[in-house]
Amino acid sequence: MEKPKIAGKAPIAVDVKKGETYYWCACGRSSNQPFCDGSHVGTEFNPVAYTAEEDKTAYFCTCKQTKTPPFCDGTHLTLE
Ligand code: FES
Ligand code: FES
Repeated sequence: MEKPKIAGKAPIAVDVKKGETYYWCACGRSSNQPFCDGSHVGTEFNPVAYTAEEDKTAYFCTCKQTKTPPFCDGTHLTLE
């Protein structure tokens, strides 16, 4: 299985809006982190859709190693 590219080593905070759907980049290749820009085409990866259930600040994973995509779970702290 292909490994995602580590796009960053800290989450990106985004003010999400209730009812809006966001497409998180799972492959790490997007230049519009933390969101998909289509650069996954040709890889094994697909973006992860997330629809916000309320207005809030969400912390999206950029290292792509999280166990709880699309959100940061602290795994980036274990990366070298
Ligand atoms: Fe990474 Fe689309 S660019 S999933
Ligand atoms: Fe990926 Fe925190 S940025 S787990």
